[in-house]
Amino acid sequence: MSDMKVQIGSLVLKNPVMTASGTFGYGTEYMDFFDVSLLGAIVTKTVTLEPRYGNPLPRIAETPSGMLNSIGLANVGIKRFLSEKLPALSTLDTKVIVNVAGHDIDSYAEVCRLASEHPRTDAIELNISCPNVRQGGLAFGTDAVFTAQVVAAARAVTDKPLIVKLTPNVTDIGDVAMAAVNAGADALSLINTLLGMGIDIHSRRPLIARGLAGLSGPAVKPVALGKVYQVAQKTDVPIIGLGGIMCWEDAIEFFLAGACAVQIGTLNFVDPQGALKVISGIDTYAKEHNISSISELTGAMIAPE
Ligand code: FUM
Repeated sequence: MSDMKVQIGSLVLKNPVMTASGTFGYGTEYMDFFDVSLLGAIVTKTVTLEPRYGNPLPRIAETPSGMLNSIGLANVGIKRFLSEKLPALSTLDTKVIVNVAGHDIDSYAEVCRLASEHPRTDAIELNISCPNVRQGGLAFGTDAVFTAQVVAAARAVTDKPLIVKLTPNVTDIGDVAMAAVNAGADALSLINTLLGMGIDIHSRRPLIARGLAGLSGPAVKPVALGKVYQVAQKTDVPIIGLGGIMCWEDAIEFFLAGACAVQIGTLNFVDPQGALKVISGIDTYAKEHNISSISELTGAMIAPE
């Protein structure tokens, strides 16, 4: 029997698998496909202070090895989120992590404060890494000084576990990670999407209306693993790994690289029950390898020469 529980700061998950923000709606959308309570946690789609329509269409496209998206943080705004979306999750027996973003430090702090006050919010994930908005997003996550400022502002308004979601679109992710940790992050999630593009050669138009977009899916997994490993060398703060996890074997790689939990993103679009299959695969692997607690795997890769 393997213990699948993991601890991320004060947040205890029944298993290490959650669904990534922006790939699982507000949590209710998948209830017809499986028992969402079986997940370690769900991370809701990013919510901002005001409602956002998002970017022009098309804003999602398939590539041979992953998915391009530029949604532009479309969401209903914090007011409707708190009154309609979070209460709909009240009966779920899983943790709810609310992903938030702003366009400046004050709006990050305010949306974080409001989301934290709701009893159904178990933790906050601060999105400072969205590549698809003009203000906020990458502008914060690519700069260690801005990162420190926005994380400190969020830290000041919440006692709930604060997870900071990082972008891979930087020269040294360790610098930004340490800025977030020193400013009060309880955990880090990495990576958000890689900046990319696709072009329709017949129309000569970009596949995504806005041109540049975020690439996710299997193509980004080695990049994500490398970033998790790099950050794990710098800090003991819990790391949640994501980026191209398409099967349970991918999740195990993330644990060995230094993650204590994983998020499933693009796989949800391919197989709505994919996250459950990842949970069951991890469980079987742990039993076969006589692993008493799944957290034993975190950072357990044999060190390179
Ligand atoms: O376009 C988007 O809404 C993407 C968000 C993100 O990658 O964080």
